[in-house]
Amino acid sequence: MRMYDIIQKKRDGGALTEAEIKWFIEGYTAGDIPDYQVAALCMAIYFQGMNLEETTALTFAVRDSGERLNFSDIKGLRVDKHSTGGVGDKTSLVVTPIVASLGVKVAKMSGRGLGHTGGTIDKLEAIPGFCTDLPVEKFKKIVNEVGIAIVGQNEKLAPADKLLYALRDVTATVDSLPLIVSSIMGKKLAADDDCIVLDVKTGSGSFMKTQEKSRELAEWMVAIGKRAGKRMRALITDMDRPLGNAIGNSLEVVEAIETLQGKGPADLTELCVALAAHILNLAEKGDLAQCEKMARGAIEDGSALKMFADMVSAQGGDESWILSPEKFPKAAYSHEVKAQKSGYIVGVDTESYGVASLLLGAGRNTKEDVIDFTAGVYLQAKTGDRVQKGDVIAVLYSNKKTGFTAAEQRLLAATRIEKTPPKVAPLVLDIVE
Ligand code: URA
Repeated sequence: MRMYDIIQKKRDGGALTEAEIKWFIEGYTAGDIPDYQVAALCMAIYFQGMNLEETTALTFAVRDSGERLNFSDIKGLRVDKHSTGGVGDKTSLVVTPIVASLGVKVAKMSGRGLGHTGGTIDKLEAIPGFCTDLPVEKFKKIVNEVGIAIVGQNEKLAPADKLLYALRDVTATVDSLPLIVSSIMGKKLAADDDCIVLDVKTGSGSFMKTQEKSRELAEWMVAIGKRAGKRMRALITDMDRPLGNAIGNSLEVVEAIETLQGKGPADLTELCVALAAHILNLAEKGDLAQCEKMARGAIEDGSALKMFADMVSAQGGDESWILSPEKFPKAAYSHEVKAQKSGYIVGVDTESYGVASLLLGAGRNTKEDVIDFTAGVYLQAKTGDRVQKGDVIAVLYSNKKTGFTAAEQRLLAATRIEKTPPKVAPLVLDIVE
């Protein structure tokens, strides 16, 4: 086979065979096919798409590009939850300890920030000492003994995705349905969980900007997961506004802790309870209404917060920071962003809010960039709120002085204020079984 022929076939709208897909993934992982040819193929896939058969073959090839984990020595049902990426999305930090405190095992592999979106691993590393790079045996031991562990992508797990992810990030090919499906599901299927609940984001802060595209993404991921023998469910959730008020790593960890303490923002709490209920329901802990009650109960009686603190401690982190979140340091500098006119916030470009946070130092522009954990944006007003000209709508935080002007301009340009109040969409828009 020749990579040239595969690129040409896809460029001209042909469907690749399973053998061709396996061949190029194996060749790329082995270092035999150069980045520039794979980048050309990704762009051809971006424009021509892939059918479900091709996407399934690509997903399985990514899954099989490295080791596959065996969790059979973890006792009980193992669940995973994955978001397709959003702004202010700290749900994993809240949902996973809730469900673990209710007896399902969470063996979770998470990612770092991608593009304008944040990543669970970067957030967890804002907790001093927290280790996201555990050997597999230690990871399994913590899941068995504590009930939950969250680690970053193992070097040996789905290595093709690691290469493709970095390549797509710099070649404008992230927001392609077959490439997102195979990236997420390739990783998820290399791990050995029984149930997977997907939080498929839709709207201006997500990679899929329309509900139709997000539904298609959800349907394909669910279908491929089922083909691999997993119990699957996807919730399509609103990302036309940031989730909660905090955007940026330690700001988000603190907000997650507040949510586990029962005093988090209403939207974040509502979505976390819904996701936890669906996970528990998929794990046969009860019907949805019962599972929702159980999830709320785990917040109210403190067991979910204790589970989070126990996981932090087991993974080498300082659990006293979870019990006393005021220990998280504040950035050296802050700046208030004020409303330019009076009225209702009728909508925001959520991606720009994520970019504003990156400009302050909360994410990476290059792979080598070091994250400023204290950097980010704290929202004082969100879509649907009424503001007066001069009211503070957000506070920006950073340890460097240079990003504030650009971040403020981004935020103001991304915030639409009008005379009449908007209709705010529900958070959970659809469910795909
Ligand atoms: N998350 C992933 O892991 N991969 C993508 O392509 C997008 C979001």
